[in-house]
Amino acid sequence: MLAGKRVLLIISGGIAAYKSLDLIRRLRERGAEVRCVLTRAAKEFVTPLSVGTLSKSRVYDELFDLTAEHEIGHIRLARDCDVVVVAPATANILAAMAQGLAGDLATTVLLATDRPVLAAPAMNHVMWASPATVANLSVLRDRGVSFVGPESGELAEGEIGTGRMSEPLAIVAAIENLLGANAPLRGRRALVTSGPTYEPIDPVRYIANRSSGKQGHAIAAALAALGAETTLVSGPTRLADPAGCRVLRVETAQQMLAATLSALPADVAVCAAAVADWRPAAPGNAKLKKDGGAPPQIALAENPDILATLSRHKQRPSLVVGFAAETDDLIAHATAKRLRKGCDWIVANDVSTGTGTFGGDDNRVHVIDAAGTESWDPMKKDEVARRLARRIADRLAGAA
Ligand code: CTP
Repeated sequence: MLAGKRVLLIISGGIAAYKSLDLIRRLRERGAEVRCVLTRAAKEFVTPLSVGTLSKSRVYDELFDLTAEHEIGHIRLARDCDVVVVAPATANILAAMAQGLAGDLATTVLLATDRPVLAAPAMNHVMWASPATVANLSVLRDRGVSFVGPESGELAEGEIGTGRMSEPLAIVAAIENLLGANAPLRGRRALVTSGPTYEPIDPVRYIANRSSGKQGHAIAAALAALGAETTLVSGPTRLADPAGCRVLRVETAQQMLAATLSALPADVAVCAAAVADWRPAAPGNAKLKKDGGAPPQIALAENPDILATLSRHKQRPSLVVGFAAETDDLIAHATAKRLRKGCDWIVANDVSTGTGTFGGDDNRVHVIDAAGTESWDPMKKDEVARRLARRIADRLAGAA
């Protein structure tokens, strides 16, 4: 199932590195090409000779190895693969990844890669539970890094707890999953809008809203994880690009519409962006100055409605999903919005003050389609995204 897939395996310095030798063997058995990067500490546990022999490829271990830079630079090494796997991933390398450090070849590759990253942590159970590791994990998860394990059991020091690296076959299964070997959306194209838009008043000021982009970015990542070729059109956010997506960055609603239409055709479009309904009609080229008179009156013009445009477009995706952010009469307003905008599904969420939806990590949504309303329990935005992506996959499979 991994035939022809290129795996870049980073082995960091933990006792579990011995299992990585078996991992290389298992990956090659399934037809994958495996290239390995060893950290300095890893070489205390496994030798470049055994890693090179099993992987049938040269082993990379020094950032400043001039021959290697001549042959293949670290940037190419980071990108000439389908997936980057860190196994074992020590507490140290996870901390370096969370910080974006690039002190050696392994961490430089991790910083430079635009491929999906899977880490198989292995460490003492106290280190695993430490607040520092927990915080690092959360940062990495938010950035789209996937994890397999660690497992519970007896650890190298003889203590019992969680920290044992997953077995090679479990890591292989996680890689297959990540690469979408069983991906229901393989061969499908998805388009997602996310984040706020900024509408300039003058070169310094703009009108915006409180959207963080978390929900939209999570949906793009979830669709890509199911194998869809995903384009994310994103307004300004503080979020990292989701793994495996093509990202088109925009500021204004007009730019968002143009970028969205440029990504057609698509099988599914999910409009999760909080697009500004209005923009200053005539943004100034120079900064507005206080001149002692009355405050300026800013005339507004209506922005294009991206969701409605897509829903009525000649290249309309076969499934168009909108969001409805409402503060009152959620279901009634959202149901009316679905018909008004011409989309197939509306995901309604309550954004009234106190719900913490805007900017927060949790969401409570209701999915409204022609058949009625399906209310989901409150859950993390990531989980909403995964469930929505699966529902989309089911629907496209049914329509196929
Ligand atoms: N939307 C869009 N383009 C716009 C406005 C909204 O694509 N110019 C999309 C959003 O991405 C979302 C849906 O339309 O999927 C509903 O957004 P919302 O802000 O709730 O609706 P509005 O059309 O702005 O309606 P109102 O503000 O009157 O509730």
